[in-house]
Amino acid sequence: MKTVLVGISGGIAAYKAAQLVSDLSKIDDIHVEVLMSKNACEFITPLTLQTLSHNRVTVDSFDTNYAYDVHHISQAKKADLFIIAPASADVIAKVAHGIADDALTTTFLACNCPKLIAPAMNTGMLENPITQNNLKTCRAYGMTILDAQSGYLACGDSGKGRLAEVSVLKQAVLHHLYKDDTLSGKKVLIDAGPTQEAIDPVRYISNHSSGKMGVSLARSFARKGAHVTLVIGPNHLEMPYGVNVVDVISAKDMYETMMEYGPTNDIIVCCAAVADYTPKNVVDHKIKKQGGGLTIECKRTQDILQSLGENKKEHQLLIGFAMETDDMENYAKSKCIKKHCDYVVGNTIVQGESGFATDTNRIIITDGSTIEGPWFGSKDEMAEIIVKKVVESCY
Ligand code: CTP
Repeated sequence: MKTVLVGISGGIAAYKAAQLVSDLSKIDDIHVEVLMSKNACEFITPLTLQTLSHNRVTVDSFDTNYAYDVHHISQAKKADLFIIAPASADVIAKVAHGIADDALTTTFLACNCPKLIAPAMNTGMLENPITQNNLKTCRAYGMTILDAQSGYLACGDSGKGRLAEVSVLKQAVLHHLYKDDTLSGKKVLIDAGPTQEAIDPVRYISNHSSGKMGVSLARSFARKGAHVTLVIGPNHLEMPYGVNVVDVISAKDMYETMMEYGPTNDIIVCCAAVADYTPKNVVDHKIKKQGGGLTIECKRTQDILQSLGENKKEHQLLIGFAMETDDMENYAKSKCIKKHCDYVVGNTIVQGESGFATDTNRIIITDGSTIEGPWFGSKDEMAEIIVKKVVESCY
């Protein structure tokens, strides 16, 4: 069981912390305890956070129901991660300089777990060099700053200062909570999702890939401490925390990007559903309806995995995917050999269970001769199996 301390300071974004506490408390393996500054209680009540976290909320250091000096130290000792969200200019200034004048800041100072700070304030306060210097100081002490977003602010201004999205805060907490250094120093490149091949300015050819498997893989590799670049086609997914994302549209864009990044990466995973064909000529105006059918002449796209395999370097591990409707194991084996891969992950399209746009997958892993698996589970679980295989191969 991991213990996450959520510190809430005084600011209108305090109400968003309720959602973060609720989301984290729903995760079986996580125990959440909340600490609020007195000013935070002007915006949201401790009762709300107590109900959502299923734990008593700490506000006042001198609460007579607690032995003050024992409580903040014991809470600090058991903490696996401390996040302050929202972090006001005031609390940032305090934690940057070791000021400990209430329960939140006292416990924060006593903790030696990973610490995350999610600023939220008026743009002027955020951009003030004093706040910027304080954030710099926090970074220098090893704290992670979860940058504020730009947008409409409660004070009526528009600019930078909105609390990062709660989903981003949650992902950041999970990343830092479960991250280890197994693949630290390794560079991982992943392609994912569909590609879109333009027919005219209105229409395109694409496929049903959602990009979910690639996002799960990117997240798993990042949690192993690797530096991850995800090259992804058009999608509607939330991007994983701590990953360098490069958006592409066509098979040509994806090919060029992968060829550019390829040589400097140690582990390359190609799970994109790259279009095999693209219209020979892209018409520059909308094609109008006319009698009879429509024939679009297509040409072959370049095979990214094949090219990476032919140029594979000594230090590289190359993994492809094979999505088949039948005879999956044999196709996976022959693709592994033909495309010079170390492994190919095979999966079959089973409506609602495995393949495109599902949340689960059934996979095998082949090195071209032997077959391991099958495994079945969520795409996150399948990603962990693939990452485990990579770790075994690297060390
Ligand atoms: N792939 C690629 N570039 C392409 C086509 C495929 O990098 N232009 C990669 C995919 O990302 C996957 C692997 O090749 O890792 C196998 O893709 P798949 O579509 O299953 O097979 P193809 O090689 O395209 O062969 P076929 O369509 O005949 O099954």
